[in-house]
Amino acid sequence: MTAVGSSTKVVLGGTRGGPDVATLRQDRWWVQPVVTVSILTAFVIYSTWAAFQNKNYYVGAAFNRDLISPFYSPCIASSCTSGAGSGFLIHTPQWFSPALLILIFPLGFRLTCYYYRRSYYRAFWWSPPACAVSDAHASYSGETKFPLIMQNVHRYFFYFGLVFNALLTYDAIRAFHQPGLGWGVTVGTVVLVVNATLLWLYSLSCHACRHLCGGQVRSFAKHPIRHKFWKFVTPLNAKHMNFAWASLVFVALTDVYVRLVASGALTDYKLF
Ligand code: FES
Repeated sequence: MTAVGSSTKVVLGGTRGGPDVATLRQDRWWVQPVVTVSILTAFVIYSTWAAFQNKNYYVGAAFNRDLISPFYSPCIASSCTSGAGSGFLIHTPQWFSPALLILIFPLGFRLTCYYYRRSYYRAFWWSPPACAVSDAHASYSGETKFPLIMQNVHRYFFYFGLVFNALLTYDAIRAFHQPGLGWGVTVGTVVLVVNATLLWLYSLSCHACRHLCGGQVRSFAKHPIRHKFWKFVTPLNAKHMNFAWASLVFVALTDVYVRLVASGALTDYKLF
């Protein structure tokens, strides 16, 4: 038995594994990995499909609307559909989907997220699948080697994420204006506002954000502004898992909504 107060040294590259039985847990510990695999797999399949569609990602003046899917914003390819372009255009062939130019940034942000890392290491690699359940692998090298050492770029993806949040907030503000009708609120406006809000909450609750606000500070008394930011983001950080899932699901639903309206399958109702 380990004495109270003593510590067990973690040896990277050492052997892993528990007793001969996989686990002594009697509860349904496998539910969480199964749910994680299901949602992440569904999201990857849907977002890949949506990114290659290259159509129905923008609802423009022909519908008296200004709604763009978050998967295609900012639309910076010359192949962008009329009205969706951001003004800064990269020359691309017409068949090229504009989503392919930008999706690496939000996907990179999520892929390297500390919370998602924990989730998909457990759910997909069983490393380990849950607390007190045997690891599926005999050895463990942490994130000290290529390719996992690349997870350290998360803080840079965080900065890119802030830029995307600002751009999607701009899209949400634009959705308050209905070309030919004036200013007002439609269901699409609400969808884009909720989407931008959830993405901000996801970014502001990020561990890299909390470190940016309060990290490497010896005395908060000497850094009152940083202390204020740190106090603001710390309770958000505690809910990071919730914001991660909510924003992931809602960003896909936002694309679905814009896609249905753009294709004519759904009417974007004006609320007031
Ligand atoms: S830790 Fe999840 S977004 Fe940074």
